[in-house]
Amino acid sequence: MSNLFIDAAFSRPTERPPVWMMRQAGRFMKEYWEIKNKYSFLEMCKTPEIAADVTMLPVDLLGIDAAILFSDILVTAEAMGGQLSFEQGVGPQFANPVRTLKDVEALDVPPAKESLKYVADAIKIIKERLAPHKTPLIGFAGAPFTVMSYLVEGKSSKDFKQTKLMLHNDPETAKALLSKLAVITADYLNMQIEAGVDAIQIFDSWAQALAWDDYKEFSHYYITEIISKLNRKDIPVISFCKGSSVFAPLMAEAKPDVISIDWNVDLLDIKNRLPSNIAVQGNFDPHILYADKKVIKERVLRLLERMRGENGFIFNLGHGIMPDLPFDNVKYAIEVIKEFKY
Ligand code: CP3
Repeated sequence: MSNLFIDAAFSRPTERPPVWMMRQAGRFMKEYWEIKNKYSFLEMCKTPEIAADVTMLPVDLLGIDAAILFSDILVTAEAMGGQLSFEQGVGPQFANPVRTLKDVEALDVPPAKESLKYVADAIKIIKERLAPHKTPLIGFAGAPFTVMSYLVEGKSSKDFKQTKLMLHNDPETAKALLSKLAVITADYLNMQIEAGVDAIQIFDSWAQALAWDDYKEFSHYYITEIISKLNRKDIPVISFCKGSSVFAPLMAEAKPDVISIDWNVDLLDIKNRLPSNIAVQGNFDPHILYADKKVIKERVLRLLERMRGENGFIFNLGHGIMPDLPFDNVKYAIEVIKEFKY
């Protein structure tokens, strides 16, 4: 498929950088709340028609260049036996945290085609709805370390104390858990590819909590294993983590097509330190989208000018859209990007 987003992901020339934004289908949109007020978050994920409706919101309302499947990184952990719930204001919780080797052994690794069939069903509906727009669909999964952190802590965490304690005191249990997560994640992503996604993103949101050696041993190793098992054909693979401004050269060794970069680093500098066939995605600080439109425009153009003429640049944020960002500001930034020409 020749397409702006796919071309940029494979470092081919494009007339302007494509744009999409992490968490583009979410709470900053009133149209999201109109659906969310009727269903629980997990019901939304598990009902293919609803997941498709939400996936389409930013396509219809923002005109982004790629859609991302509406789901969550924790559905794999739930399929393994994690008792998952989402409470408003609290975020994801597991009622049965994983702390011992026995807890890890109790987790199942069911075939994705059975336990996560609702995702394949959603993808098929979304692909039909996207066809007239010619907008590609990004499928995704969480990286084993980030998903593990929720299973071990039982909830969101600021310091990942229990998770890091397991890595350091009981690395065998940690690795048993990470291995199981890597197996289901590769199977799950291959199911998404078979169902029709056009690209894959792996989210390792909390990798920045790890020291270099621990990142290498407990995160990078498993991401490399997952990527090596993907039936990639012509499907680009995007590797995202918070911490990529430090870890990117190592992330490149896992052979993704694109590395998604946080906002702490100059994007061109980091791109120049990577192999030339690896594209970069990012790395706009989403907090700038709270500012005045004049500031938003100036800062968007600054990043576009910095990357002018580079093959392999996808405009995105360094991390996801915050729920209280003004919708108009997000829309405005996308308009500025879409008017730009190399
Ligand atoms: O990007 C998109 O628009 C696609 C959908 C998507 C969601 N979650 C929807 C969601 C994606 C790609 C994710 C991935 C995800 N989930 C990540 C990695 C990405 C990142 O931002 O780092 C993580 C760490 C999670 C785990 C998770 N799920 C958290 C931390 C939360 C928010 C908790 C909170 O209340 O702030 C969720 C819930 C979630 N996932 C929501 C959405 C739209 C909000 C649900 C609601 O309406 O309450």
